Amino acid sequence: MITIKSERELELMRDAGALTARVLDMLEREIVAGMSTLRLDELAEQFIRDHNAVPSFLNYVPKGEVGVTPYPATLCVSINEEVVHGVPVAKRIIQDGDIVSVDCGVYKSGYHGDAARTFVIGTIPDDVRKLVDVTRECLDLGIAQAVAGNRLHDISSAIEDHARSFGYSVIENMVGHGIGSELHEDPAVPNYGRKHTGVKLRAGMTLAIEPMIALGRSRRAVSKRGAWVAVTEDGKPCAHFEHTIAIREGAAEILTK
Ligand code: MF3
Ligand code: CO
Repeated sequence: MITIKSERELELMRDAGALTARVLDMLEREIVAGMSTLRLDELAEQFIRDHNAVPSFLNYVPKGEVGVTPYPATLCVSINEEVVHGVPVAKRIIQDGDIVSVDCGVYKSGYHGDAARTFVIGTIPDDVRKLVDVTRECLDLGIAQAVAGNRLHDISSAIEDHARSFGYSVIENMVGHGIGSELHEDPAVPNYGRKHTGVKLRAGMTLAIEPMIALGRSRRAVSKRGAWVAVTEDGKPCAHFEHTIAIREGAAEILTK
């Protein structure tokens, strides 16, 4: 069921979203080669709790999945070929030349914010930098379609078309989602699809739009049994950007700006 948020609910989501963005702004300033992914996680958790909020991902149990342990951290930190759900640990040290996707969810006053950015560490190959830039553009182009009266897959096709025009592959088995009092609500927001199809977008719907785009051929992110982290099938790098947005007339409101 897709819920339409009231102005009061959007007010609270704006608050949760703004804090989510501030966590990522803080991490963007702090992240540096030589730092462990666990350190990033500690900084994020402290910041969130200092602002009277709770990490959305910590202890999250995906619905309908078996054999997966509750998510053990505040952030997902996914490096290079890791697409999503990299679990922060002390022994994983960020290196010069890495791309580091940091995904953060914040729960505040009953509502979630969810956002992700891929950070470039030091000097990286030109083709990987281009991937990161284009994935950010994919998110922007998806958001540009996220307006009342359009259809859901107008978002999806805008993302897919831009990624494919550079020869990149779209990770198809990981999707964006509705968001609100639950982290994952209806509808699923795929990063590929056909224009003019899917549910009609209505003012007050709130969506987490999150393109995951890879160099190479991989169309899926795969994980070992019981493990959280999901990687590209061919080991090629993947970038990930995410915003939580509200559908409005005319233009979307980005809640995690
Ligand atoms: N942004 C991701 C998502 O919406 C992060 C979820 S991580 C989890 O799926 F730990 F909560 F699963
Ligand atoms: Co999300």
